[in-house]
Amino acid sequence: MERSNQKFLIVGGSSLRGTVKVNGSKNASLPILAGTLLCAGTVKIKDVPHLQDIKNMKDVLTYLGARVECDGKDITVDGSQVQSLEISEELMRRMRASNLVLGSLLARFGYVKMSYPGGCNIGSRPMNLHFKGLKAMGAVIREKFGYITAEAPSGLQGAEIHLDVPSVGATENLMMAAALAQGVTVIRNAAKEPEIEDLQKFLNSMGAKINGAGTDTIKIEGVSELRPTEHTVIPDRIEAGTYMVAAAITKSDITLTNVIPAHLDPLVAKLREAGVKVTVGEESVRVQGAGRPKAVDIKTMPYPGFPTDMQPQMMALLTLAEGTSVITETIFENRFKHVPELRRMGADIYLEGNTAVVRGVPSLSGAYVEASDLRAGAALVLAAMAAEDGTVLDGIEHIDRGYERIEKKYNALGARIIRVSS
Ligand code: UD1
Repeated sequence: MERSNQKFLIVGGSSLRGTVKVNGSKNASLPILAGTLLCAGTVKIKDVPHLQDIKNMKDVLTYLGARVECDGKDITVDGSQVQSLEISEELMRRMRASNLVLGSLLARFGYVKMSYPGGCNIGSRPMNLHFKGLKAMGAVIREKFGYITAEAPSGLQGAEIHLDVPSVGATENLMMAAALAQGVTVIRNAAKEPEIEDLQKFLNSMGAKINGAGTDTIKIEGVSELRPTEHTVIPDRIEAGTYMVAAAITKSDITLTNVIPAHLDPLVAKLREAGVKVTVGEESVRVQGAGRPKAVDIKTMPYPGFPTDMQPQMMALLTLAEGTSVITETIFENRFKHVPELRRMGADIYLEGNTAVVRGVPSLSGAYVEASDLRAGAALVLAAMAAEDGTVLDGIEHIDRGYERIEKKYNALGARIIRVSS
């Protein structure tokens, strides 16, 4: 990913107050945009956030011949002229999630050639489960010189697929591939994340026959074609969660609207355990932080366990807890890059393999720190808002991938964050 020359200057110590409307989900929008390729007509997706990752996916669709138009947060994709062109390394490397076009292109055209999306900062992120599932559906997959070629000249066939681990991306790719396959596909040990349910709802609104998303068994009856539709993406549970931790760490009072509270259950439970007051409404959540949180132990797990995408933010909070917390990361092997940065700010964290022992300190101090990835960056913004003096945060292009103008939203609540170019 290209380095930007922008940084955040963050003055700590402000108290936040007010209401924030949560955006549509990035991780729901990405597979849904990839899924538009399944349809030879025009599909409208509503409430898509303005983020760099979304722009990257739009660039992939445009490159493949789709006509992509944006009107505010609504994106219209006309897939009638799409062809399965070779997708270059330059396009694929910009974003890991571009691998989600594999299933739809293969199902619609029977042929895909794309560069391997490569590793990323939080782990190696292989695609073996995507390939294993597609092979079970009759695809022939070759990997050579960093490129993946997948072929199914006579179409994909329904299959029984058991995922070794409940991979979100593999479940989504296989659902999209199976939507246009001949016969019935059953995905067992499927990921149960809310974004998978949203993908099912979107695909079914195009005429797909899928049920079971949200459980560990998803059944897909293939259909011969999919038709135009309109779909509104679900609210972003990770953006919401990050604002919830912001309220707790700055001892503030923030209300979030446009949320599906059930999707936030794992985080609500942990915040309450830490002594933070959380009031859950029908489509809103209010978080009131006061005093130091209590130490809590966290183990990241597939949904409905505690999300790995909230681990860095929660660690930022627990650096200020009374007592010692143990955080175990079970999903990604390299997701503690925020630890040395939090230490620079005065946190007391001991790392041993995939476990971090966080001994709470009474306060953090500002420092020069760097975001290594999206959620690590979000965690550093939180720590900096709670710190006693100013922080310079570098690497904010990672944050822009997943949070829309984060400084504007926080500043509207009373934070002091300035974006500077150097
Ligand atoms: C998605 C999310 C990401 C989140 C992650 C886990 C999107 C765009 N990204 O990523 O924000 O952190 O889910 O909730 O939705 N694995 C394999 N083989 C595979 C595929 C995955 O071993 O073929 C492993 C991975 O290395 C990892 C685990 O499965 O250890 C989970 O990864 P996965 O659920 O696939 O994550 P993504 O879909 O890439």
